[in-house]
Amino acid sequence: MITLALSKGRIFEETLPLLKAAGIQVLDDPEKTRKLILATNQPDVRVVLVRATDVPTYVQYGGADLGITGLDTLLEHGGDGLYQPLDLQIAKCRISVAVREGFDYAAAVRQGSRLSVATKYVGIAREFFATKGVHVDLIKLYGSMELAPLTGLADAIVDLVSTGNTLKANHLVEVEHIMDISSRLVVNQASLKLKQVPLRRIIDAFAGALEQA
Ligand code: PRP
Repeated sequence: MITLALSKGRIFEETLPLLKAAGIQVLDDPEKTRKLILATNQPDVRVVLVRATDVPTYVQYGGADLGITGLDTLLEHGGDGLYQPLDLQIAKCRISVAVREGFDYAAAVRQGSRLSVATKYVGIAREFFATKGVHVDLIKLYGSMELAPLTGLADAIVDLVSTGNTLKANHLVEVEHIMDISSRLVVNQASLKLKQVPLRRIIDAFAGALEQA
């Protein structure tokens, strides 16, 4: 049995064409079922639905043989024990620093005073500001980061930006582009040895689909 870990929503939707290229069709719609293990048209392939941040953990410890996860989540996880063969070029967005409209970010950075930064991406933020030589106090949040500068919880946030609509609706502006994000295929290294043939078939089919895109 091959177990693929996916998260609901954008990653799931954008993975379907890749699965199709590998001849795999998921038999249930995750938005309509409460089931967490979804069968496919191939009796030896199943999909498990996990929280996006849990995908690398499932694959690392062998709860799934492979999974699809955003580079953001992968970098925060650290990637230990994961083979990362493909950038799938899906669920593309960026990680940026944003502040309240009118907040003088350049001056705050120039003055060398400590900047308070709220984020779900503590590892990525720490490394980014350390490289810039900016002293930061990091505040870990799990969602609704945009609220932090509006309520005085923090000067800035580090968050995903796609269309920019969420920032705009909350009167925030992007002041630094940290990195581009897309989803990556991750594979359990032991599975790759033990289930080499079926896993290679899936990896190669994904790679083929990407070349045609
Ligand atoms: C992400 C991110 C922003 C939003 C950006 O949240 O945290 O809030 O998307 O998208 P936009 O630039 O197109 O407006 P997501 O919806 O993934 O949920 P989350 O809060 O659980 O991270």
